[in-house]
Amino acid sequence: MPTPLISASILSANFAHLEADLRQAEQAGVDWIHVDVMDGHFVPNISMGPMIVETCRAITTLPLDVHLMIDNPDDFLDAFAAAGANRISVHIEGNPNIHRTLQKIRSLNCLPGIVLNPGTPACTLQEVIGMVDLVLVMTVNPGYGGQAFLPDTLGKISEIQRMSQKSQASPWSQVDGGITPRTLPLTYSAGARVFVAGNAIFNHDDGITAAVRALKVSIG
Ligand code: DX5
Ligand code: ZN
Repeated sequence: MPTPLISASILSANFAHLEADLRQAEQAGVDWIHVDVMDGHFVPNISMGPMIVETCRAITTLPLDVHLMIDNPDDFLDAFAAAGANRISVHIEGNPNIHRTLQKIRSLNCLPGIVLNPGTPACTLQEVIGMVDLVLVMTVNPGYGGQAFLPDTLGKISEIQRMSQKSQASPWSQVDGGITPRTLPLTYSAGARVFVAGNAIFNHDDGITAAVRALKVSIG
């Protein structure tokens, strides 16, 4: 079993001092920086693009874990890779050529990830699970930070764990949405090993360092 990792979602960071927030998260020991890209079509919100990835790249050497919630992701892969993304994850929903998309991400020297919305069953992964470095199970409906964790997604995390073992693929199992010191252990028990957290890190009453510590302690 791989060591658990924390990927800090900057969607909840304060962009008036993004650099300070990022540095504090890094010092607190987060492992990856998660960049949520939203286009107002695939999800009902607009967030950030390659320019912010480039900004993060200039601030940190941590792996940049880019989560694309956009229509036609193929059109933007070159730009995100050039901006400094290390990992690029794309949704399986609404992408008839997902196999090609994943191939293209790898050809750009980025590690491909596949993302499943809460309404998408694990079986849709069957043909591509061997191609990816990461399977991201959304534990909220994508579009906004700070939403409540959906416990119904836990069964899918375990199911994907079994699928990975069966297919002898060993992608990282990542969860994203509503991850807190209370919900993280539930997903860990189900098999998740990379925990995306935005609100729980950047909006914690006691600050970023205490927030990251609380998440780490919850892993045990
Ligand atoms: C939701 C995004 C998440 C989000 C994290 O569409 O993909 O990465 O920022 O959620 P919270 O804030 O719940 O940790
Ligand atoms: Zn995300």
